[in-house]
Amino acid sequence: MPVDKIIPETGQKWPENVGIIAMEVYFPFTCVNQEKLEEFDGVSKGKYTIGLGQRNMGFCGDREDINSMSLTVVHKLMERNSIDPNDIGRLEVGTETLIDKSKSVKSFLMQLFEESGNTNIEGIDTTNACYGGTQALFNSIAWIESSAWDGRLAIVVAADIAVYAAGNARSTGGAGAVAMLVGPNAPVVMERGLRSVHMQHAYDFYKPNMSSEYPVVDGKLSVQCYFNALDQCYKRYKEKGQQLCQKASFTLDDIDYAVFHTPFCRIVQKSLARLMLQDFLSDMGCESSEREKYSDLVKFRDVKLEETFQDEGKAKEIEKASMKCSKDAYDKKTAPSLCISRNVGNMYTPSLYGCLASLLFRSNSDHFVPEQIHLDKVLFESLDELAGKRVLLFSYGSGLASAMFSFRISDDFGPSSPLNTLVTSLKDIPARLASRKEVEPAEFLETLKIREHTHNNSSYTPIGSEEDLFPGTYYLTYVDDKFRRTYQRKKNSSNEGSCMVV
Ligand SMILES: CC(C)(COP(=O)(O)OP(=O)(O)OC[C@H]1O[C@@H](n2cnc3c(N)ncnc32)[C@H](O)[C@@H]1OP(=O)(O)O)[C@@H](O)C(=O)NCCC(=O)NCCS
Repeated sequence: MPVDKIIPETGQKWPENVGIIAMEVYFPFTCVNQEKLEEFDGVSKGKYTIGLGQRNMGFCGDREDINSMSLTVVHKLMERNSIDPNDIGRLEVGTETLIDKSKSVKSFLMQLFEESGNTNIEGIDTTNACYGGTQALFNSIAWIESSAWDGRLAIVVAADIAVYAAGNARSTGGAGAVAMLVGPNAPVVMERGLRSVHMQHAYDFYKPNMSSEYPVVDGKLSVQCYFNALDQCYKRYKEKGQQLCQKASFTLDDIDYAVFHTPFCRIVQKSLARLMLQDFLSDMGCESSEREKYSDLVKFRDVKLEETFQDEGKAKEIEKASMKCSKDAYDKKTAPSLCISRNVGNMYTPSLYGCLASLLFRSNSDHFVPEQIHLDKVLFESLDELAGKRVLLFSYGSGLASAMFSFRISDDFGPSSPLNTLVTSLKDIPARLASRKEVEPAEFLETLKIREHTHNNSSYTPIGSEEDLFPGTYYLTYVDDKFRRTYQRKKNSSNEGSCMVV
């Protein structure tokens, strides 16, 4: 689309640099420690913390549902960034936490616009496991770049409650929501032409039982599907990168940061290793000085990526070598994106965008211990570590849908730049993580039981305490005999007036 053209209806210029202008991240006030969970579940010490790479898991009681979490995150986004409700022309939600087969979460969010009188807002919900938020983001960006755009901004919400039945998968749960303000002249710009997708039919994780929040999951298959989707997306992304940048090869060297959908942190380290393995296998013709960086992988030069799904023993050997080879790249490009994932767990659709937010506030998660948090240590030293950089994103939703794409971060990082504003708005996240209430595993289990027994009940008044919510959180007050839900907002701060009822 020519960027210098004027849109006849509005007199506006065609949009340039479309991307994320502002972000808000929400996670529940209560969490459980993974080390304590290992002991409680009777698994070997280190399985959840080292084997899966998790530290804490966020969860919520019966006071919160997908509508309340989405209301919380959108209200906060608008409040923190002083967004005029009339400036929003599109609002979309990506979620797999369904409590109604017809009425969208987006329709509940329209309550936040009632006072302004703005009902002229496109968009509904999008669902496919952890991928819905990405599709909602793509849709909103496409709207802004299309002939239907009327000059206003979009809000994209990714929100989910990730709970599993007792068993192997339970420790990979989590809950949370991310809202993104999308528009032109953004500090985090979606790169045009650099996007690849891989979509396929698979029964790796699905939710056929509408009376339960729990998925049916084939864990091993889901990991295999994730890696295969990653391989396919990266292959296509690299081809596009080569064409767009007119380079003989396009590798991790062309990418400053790489963030991934993070069901658990360990999979992400393996993912970066797989990208490096693919670079090695497709980059055999590179200069010999360049090849040195792949020295750990030399003996696997004849391997095909597909083979890693067939021979488990060989796959482990290759994985080990790739992880060794990519250790430095992982520390630099990916580890800084894991703070929220490690401490909240898998949030499903918001997981990837929580990683992006973590990267933006530049916390080194490996040294991040909420109990001993020192803000100066966990925040980036200078915004030039981000300015002008390319961030690769891999989005995966079981079933399956996946995509790889990238953002270019603005190189303007002055004190009043949009990048500075965005990053500053995320700086309270480490302190919020540290201020959560840690509950014992037995209480966590009790809470899950309450959710199980009351899921989708009618004529129900939740019993969870308002104390267990952050200020400014929406919560469910009642589900009436026709399943209609009402919500209230907890006071935002001690000096604020009465709660707002929606
Ligand atoms: C991820 C999942 C399949 C793991 O299930 P599991 O069979 O109980 O776990 P494993 O026995 O494979 O152990 C996980 C890892 O911890 C390691 N581990 C186990 N015990 C350990 C210990 N005491 N100390 C250190 N590491 C340990 C294992 O070696 C394994 O590592 P590896 O994969 O590098 O070999 C399961 O949690 C799940 O189904 N999660 C939900 C689905 C999901 O998240 N899928 C991801 C793609 S979307």
